[in-house]
Amino acid sequence: MLFIFGTRPEAIKLAPLIKEFQRRSQFDTKVCVTGQHRQMLDQVLSFFEIKPDYDLDIMQADQTLFDVTANGLKKLEKVFDDCKPECVFVQGDTTTSFIGALAAYYKKVKIAHIEAGLRSHNKYSPFPEEVNRKLAGHMADFHFAPTEQAVQHLALENIRSHVYNVGNTVIDALFLGLEQNKKKGHTKNNYDFLKNNHRMVLITGHRRESFGKPFEDICEAIRTLSLRYADVEFVYPVHLNPNVREPVNRLLSDLSNVHLIEPLEYPEFIEMIEKSTIVLTDSGGLQEEAPSLGKPVLVMREVTERMEGVEAGTAKLVGTDKNLIVSEMSKLLDDKMAYDKMAKAVNPYGDGSTCAKIADVISTIYSNTK
Ligand code: UD1
Ligand code: UDP
Repeated sequence: MLFIFGTRPEAIKLAPLIKEFQRRSQFDTKVCVTGQHRQMLDQVLSFFEIKPDYDLDIMQADQTLFDVTANGLKKLEKVFDDCKPECVFVQGDTTTSFIGALAAYYKKVKIAHIEAGLRSHNKYSPFPEEVNRKLAGHMADFHFAPTEQAVQHLALENIRSHVYNVGNTVIDALFLGLEQNKKKGHTKNNYDFLKNNHRMVLITGHRRESFGKPFEDICEAIRTLSLRYADVEFVYPVHLNPNVREPVNRLLSDLSNVHLIEPLEYPEFIEMIEKSTIVLTDSGGLQEEAPSLGKPVLVMREVTERMEGVEAGTAKLVGTDKNLIVSEMSKLLDDKMAYDKMAKAVNPYGDGSTCAKIADVISTIYSNTK
């Protein structure tokens, strides 16, 4: 069994599954990281104590989709020749997941797709993730869908065989992280802004389709809000992508209640979610974690492939429209009823048992084929 991943969210979502496979001695578990992300991937590997068997180390500063696709795919060929896996696991919708599936398909190796079936039905949003996920799904042999909606999306594309509704492994990761934080009793979060009992808005943003003007609009909205709400702390762990860092630093670094910090390790980050009042984000994973912790999420996207949170009433789409971000955030900060209506813990994405379910399915399939 070969797990292939390369970015922070894939690492977070595959780590508990790799642990589950490593615990079961029937599996020979190998790990290949493309290194599409370097520092943000290494943070996760270190927290979950995962040592890759193969590290392709492909990340370049300000890389293009062509760089990641071509460099990663070429290097994967050698990994397959050396490892000769019987089944490959890829997760989600990144370019690493797409090339991991493509390499396995070229080598006629079975593919298990984790977090299968999410669809926004807009091929440019999220870009290029919508199409990455679709292509990986059409190459895959085993489809692990997180929700019934995802199962239905696959059925509409005639993917009906070996589809399993198992929840999302991100909830397993979240529970693991929360448990560790509780056991340890503290994290490395030692910021002064956490000590004043102010309300806190936790922000992340990094989507390619928002680079340029939409990102500047997001920053303008945060600026307006920070001036309007001087007694609210706006905490933004800034993604390492230079296309994100440049506008964020240029437009927000002079505000005393906006805290631009480095990407946090996973335990520190989930503690930030717990401590936050509201989450403002375009991240996929955060749309899944925050509802489980009862935090309202304003989603800075025009469409989302994660409608379950929106339908449950804990997430709302605000796009990158400056006025809409300001008005929806103000409503939540000013109107307790509106806030309470959204701040309820719901868990459409799983109960922490997803990894065991996936391992059970794979175990049955492979014991039947031997
Ligand atoms: C990628 C995924 C996206 C996912 C996101 C999670 C694709 C096409 N996109 O987008 O789906 O939501 O990861 O964060 O696969 N960088 C560093 N160090 C790091 C990570 C990134 O310096 O640890 C910088 C580099 O300059 C790199 C750039 O960020 O070139 C962009 O990274 P890349 O993986 O291409 O795109 P993301 O926007 O991170
Ligand atoms: N995350 C983290 N540190 C941070 C920001 C996010 O550990 O500083 C975690 C977050 O809890 C979630 C994942 O990273 O599990 C989301 O990753 P990202 O936003 O990079 O990608 P996406 O989910 O949009 O694909």
